Amino acid sequence: MHMSIFYFSGTGNTKWIAEKLSQTLNSNMHTADCYTIEKQNEELTALINLALKQSDYIGFAFPLHGADAPRVMKEFFAMFVSIAAKLRQTSAKLMFLNTFGYVNGMGYFRAKKMLKKCGMPIDYYINFRLPNNSESKNYKLLGNNMPEKIKGAALSKIDRLVRALEKGRKNIQGIGPHLLPGIVIRKLLAEKIKESYNNFIIDASLCTKCMMCVKNCPTQSIEYSKDSFAFKSACDVCWRCIAMCPTGAISMNNKSV
Ligand SMILES: Cc1cc2nc3c(=O)[nH]c(=O)nc-3n(C[C@H](O)[C@H](O)[C@H](O)COP(=O)(O)O)c2cc1C
Repeated sequence: MHMSIFYFSGTGNTKWIAEKLSQTLNSNMHTADCYTIEKQNEELTALINLALKQSDYIGFAFPLHGADAPRVMKEFFAMFVSIAAKLRQTSAKLMFLNTFGYVNGMGYFRAKKMLKKCGMPIDYYINFRLPNNSESKNYKLLGNNMPEKIKGAALSKIDRLVRALEKGRKNIQGIGPHLLPGIVIRKLLAEKIKESYNNFIIDASLCTKCMMCVKNCPTQSIEYSKDSFAFKSACDVCWRCIAMCPTGAISMNNKSV
């Protein structure tokens, strides 16, 4: 079996899941490639074409942002659908891997709607409940630094997923009434998330101007000029700048999501 996994990860949780699944497949006589979607469009187009031609499964891994996919992931889906619809010669099946802090209010039906136009079946929709990055006061608890108990539970889930894949047993998780609040959350939070780039604060007394935030922002939304920082509207509010700042100088004011 060959799997290609495309992921977006703001603060490392989803990256950890995507990489662990890829490693588990590779160490079980299968092959897997794991790609961040933070690439130039040309490179991403080539990788999507390759994945569609060579993979038995294509995985999409991303965190939930306001019971929805982050904007950058939705843009990736639009690209994926247009390439897949044109290619029409793929037998690949799709897999969703969602990470979130509380409950997955997005779910299979929304995923299906997003990918409808490519006509490919979604055989797996897998949920991973991990630490909530937008509430964590200690970012050293995210990604590879998550507590051992959480990592252990996630690894067991990945093992079960690989067994299900080997047996061709589909697995759609999280269909239930809890998806209904997701509809409300999406309505209430979409605009708030979009506007929250206005709410980032940099504490000048802590900032060392190391530029980690500027260099690592996935949407290049932090600008530094004339001795001050500005957050731009392209920001996807993924929390990476907050999590990566070595001195804890970046925060959200209390209007944050
Ligand atoms: C802007 C934003 C919105 C979020 N919305 C939700 C949500 O609706 N439901 C939820 O359970 N977790 C939510 N979370 C938590 C993340 O989905 C979760 O911590 C995820 O594992 C982070 O993954 P990452 O480290 O790969 O970015 C949100 C986080 C952020 C930054």
